[in-house]
Amino acid sequence: MSPSLTVRRIAADQGAVFRELRTASLREAPYAFGATLEDALSADAASFDAAAVDRAVSLTVATFILYTEGHPAGLIEAHFDDSAARRAFVCELWVAPAVRHLRGGELLVDTAGSWLASEGAMEVYAWVADANRNAMRFYEALGFGPTGEHRRVQRAPEQAESLLVRHVPTTSQVFQQ
Ligand SMILES: CC(C)(COP(=O)(O)OP(=O)(O)OC[C@H]1O[C@@H](n2cnc3c(N)ncnc32)[C@H](O)[C@@H]1OP(=O)(O)O)[C@@H](O)C(=O)NCCC(=O)NCCS
Repeated sequence: MSPSLTVRRIAADQGAVFRELRTASLREAPYAFGATLEDALSADAASFDAAAVDRAVSLTVATFILYTEGHPAGLIEAHFDDSAARRAFVCELWVAPAVRHLRGGELLVDTAGSWLASEGAMEVYAWVADANRNAMRFYEALGFGPTGEHRRVQRAPEQAESLLVRHVPTTSQVFQQ
């Protein structure tokens, strides 16, 4: 039987869980993120505690955690940038290998996207490394498409990443489904 997967916004006292998941994701999938494992390991516990407090209640940034049978097994960040357009992004997406292909990633993206939409987003953006073909196919399967915007990967400037976008369905589009 498939394990049951649930997603909840991080709670203010989950700094240690946040640190554990970030470290696990950077160790397991270093190619997928702008930050490095060294960044996470060198940051002190208090910075994760402070981030959890902020991401639990902020109107501009949130972290959502995936649970399998009650155990943390993945995460995603949702945030608005500080440009005039106030673009909405998802990032830091990771699902533990043991529970991949069970729609946990989809649940994380949809939950983060719903939160962004509830805070006013009409589009949700995601930067994906061109070399990360799995993540590209994953986001495409979820309805994200290219914006035509590209940039160098900060951690590895010889590599490129592309900006994808998914439009938030309007109420009338939701009723047509
Ligand atoms: C990308 C990732 C989050 C997907 O998580 P997941 O829980 O396995 O994905 P889901 O089960 O929700 O997949 C939903 C759909 O996406 C597509 N998909 C998911 N993984 C895929 C893969 N490896 N190759 C091709 N398509 C894939 C499929 O269409 C899938 O639907 P299906 O299972 O019915 O075919 C996960 O593989 C991961 O954590 N990878 C390492 C970190 C990473 O790359 N993060 C993204 C940074 S931009």
